[in-house]
Amino acid sequence: MYTPEMLASIQKVEASREARIGAELKRFTAQEKEDLLRTYHPDFKQEEFSELRIGPNKGERVPHELAELLEGHSRIKDVKLDLSRIDYDVDVLVIGGGGSGASAAIEAHAAGANVMMVTKLRIGDANSMMAEGGIQAADKENDSPAQHYLDAFGGGHFAAQPELLHKLVTDGPNAIKWLNDLGVMFDKEPDGTMITTHGGGTSRKRMHACADYSGAEIMRTLRDEVLNREIPIVDFTSAVELILDTNGRAAGAVLMNMETGEYHIARAKTVIIATGGAGRLHYQGFPTSNHYGATADGLVLAYRAGVALKYPDTQQYHPTGAAFPMQIFGCLVTEKVRAIGGMLVNAEGEAFMHPLETRDVTAASVIRECSTNGKGIETPCGGSAVWLDTPLIEITKGKGTIVKSVPAMHRMYMQYGIDMREQPILIYPTLHYQNGGIQINLDGSTSIENLYAAGEAVGGIHGRNRLMGNSLLDIIVFGRNAGKSAGAKYKDIKLGEMTLAHVDRYEQEIQDAGIANGHISPLLLPQYARVQEL
Ligand code: FUM
Repeated sequence: MYTPEMLASIQKVEASREARIGAELKRFTAQEKEDLLRTYHPDFKQEEFSELRIGPNKGERVPHELAELLEGHSRIKDVKLDLSRIDYDVDVLVIGGGGSGASAAIEAHAAGANVMMVTKLRIGDANSMMAEGGIQAADKENDSPAQHYLDAFGGGHFAAQPELLHKLVTDGPNAIKWLNDLGVMFDKEPDGTMITTHGGGTSRKRMHACADYSGAEIMRTLRDEVLNREIPIVDFTSAVELILDTNGRAAGAVLMNMETGEYHIARAKTVIIATGGAGRLHYQGFPTSNHYGATADGLVLAYRAGVALKYPDTQQYHPTGAAFPMQIFGCLVTEKVRAIGGMLVNAEGEAFMHPLETRDVTAASVIRECSTNGKGIETPCGGSAVWLDTPLIEITKGKGTIVKSVPAMHRMYMQYGIDMREQPILIYPTLHYQNGGIQINLDGSTSIENLYAAGEAVGGIHGRNRLMGNSLLDIIVFGRNAGKSAGAKYKDIKLGEMTLAHVDRYEQEIQDAGIANGHISPLLLPQYARVQEL
């Protein structure tokens, strides 16, 4: 499968392997990290950002692709809708079918609410399902939420909202217990003790995993719980606009059937946005590890209704996206591969960094190696890449470690004739996570009354960079949190008359600002996934 040039470089990787085993790899200093990020991280490429001209974040810079959608026209701009014809009437409307949406729905249902989930694909078609390496929580004796807080706060460049991060880490152990009780099959020792490992930037082993199918196993369990509770799920249906009431409070959503294009009206006393990330916007042309549905829809809905975004200018580029072969270009190679001993090595066989620096620093360092340093390996996918020396895992941790710890990775590469136990694999950063998103309060509420948000659609929990495993934790902690809050709130709500006046107002703002970008949002699906324009 590998080209002759790649095979020649592999010989150098093999030749340097023995000397690399046991060698102490230097950590970057704080200044080196800062310099690396400023020079090589995509978040710092000023020419890739535009200033928003309208809305609550007016004057702030966001990626061009996101600006086009936030300043885009509503899908219902020229549609006459009769808001008195209500198709669904519920206490809690959850928009999104991933881990945070499912967790929110379960808790709101447990609180006695009449809950409905709406999802543009099917429940579980989400980034949560694709998470691999694990979920962090400080539940071991040598660890504490305080230690977890310090790791995550530093890793996020001290920009996390303290109260949100505090909640994430203090609720962490209970989140693991909740999932375990629901039936998630975590990796355990024969005596039942949870097995935990390191991730980039963690000072303690607190990564709980289900091999490298952690997200799939967690989502399987959450979906079962939603189905067991008989919570209605309206699938293949997108929320295309929020509905407010005449008092400016959330009151439901306009839904669109993805197959027929028909619109439906959902009235709800509370609404939870749990729509996930934005990898399918392919910022700066990067490939992505994300699900097809990751198109920033919830950000558009909330922004148009008047909710500010926190840190919408920062994204996570996972350092180890598959860079070859083409069929898996951009797919995630879990950080766990490095946690169990995989080493990053350039074309000359040199280990150019410690494998478990934080993600943004690691990604920047890989980009430097492939650009200025000229030590990348050319790939037919149109760029260059570095090696992740995976045979080293079998040598240092024992034969069978790869199949036992990262079976999904092994399987993915074997499909293309690459045995990662015998040969290293090629990686390059892939767009993985939206660090920023909808601004929330501690109870998951937003600046619009009765509107909540959870999961990757939210910004501020992790600051400007997230550590591995804190996203699976975030969707559980903040999904449940939003569900509990909405489940407590709906009982006191008497809705006023429903209105879409905010959509008209936004349209007026677009015109007043002279914006003529012609984009329609939310995007719903990436352009290349469309069979017809809805
Ligand atoms: O590398 C990974 O397994 C990704 C984990 C995460 O984004 O938390």
